[in-house]
Amino acid sequence: MTEQNKGSVLVTYFSATGTTRRAAEKIASAAGGRTLEIRPARPYSNADLGWTDRASRVNREHGDARAQGRA
Ligand SMILES: Cc1cc2nc3c(=O)[nH]c(=O)nc-3n(C[C@H](O)[C@H](O)[C@H](O)COP(=O)(O)O)c2cc1C
Repeated sequence: MTEQNKGSVLVTYFSATGTTRRAAEKIASAAGGRTLEIRPARPYSNADLGWTDRASRVNREHGDARAQGRA
C-alpha cells in the first residue's frame, strides 16, 4: 500500500453465511481499505442454501444467467 493509493481500496463481497465477509474484512483491513456488501434482492434462507436438495433455490439458480443480476 503506497501513500498515493491509501484509502482507494474497496473490497466488495457477496456472502451468505459470513465466511466471505470475514475474509473481505481481513483483506480490507490489511489493505487499509473499506468493504461494500453486495446483497441479494431476496435474502437466502437456510433452505434456499441447501445444496444437497436438487430443487433448492441455489441449485435452481446455478447456471441461470438471469439470476446473476438480481443483487
Ligand atoms: C450452492 C452452494 C454450492 C457450493 N459449492 C461449493 C463448492 O463447489 N466447493 C466448496 O468448497 N464449497 C462450496 N460451497 C460451500 C461454500 O463455499 C461455503 O459454505 C462458504 O463458507 C460460503 O461462504 P459465505 O458464507 O461467505 O457465503 C457451496 C455452498 C453452496 C450454498
